[in-house]
Amino acid sequence: MAGAAGAPKSGDVKAWAARLKVKGMDGLVASVRNGLNAMPPGGLCNSCSDEDHVALISYMAAAEHADF
Ligand code: HEM
Repeated sequence: MAGAAGAPKSGDVKAWAARLKVKGMDGLVASVRNGLNAMPPGGLCNSCSDEDHVALISYMAAAEHADF
């Protein structure tokens, strides 16, 4: 099951691994920076750096998330 407008969901390890394998982290960061289909450029975060996006992608791609 995908997230908003077909976005890969946080913690969906398989979905993220597949994208990382095809495009690599640099490619995924470029997708966020430029936007991709239904994803707006910068993921709507205009103040985020590439490093911030790497951190966010790493978080979303990981299986274990803190349960606040
Ligand atoms: C800073 C926040 C965000 C980050 C870091 C992020 C990251 C990503 C990444 C890395 C992908 C995979 C791109 C690829 O396969 O090349 C993706 C896909 C996607 N994201 Fe985001 N995203 C963010 C915010 C958003 C927002 C705000 C939306 C919607 C309003 C969104 C919607 C989508 C959609 C629809 C896809 C699937 C695009 C496709 O494969 O057609 N994302 N996101």
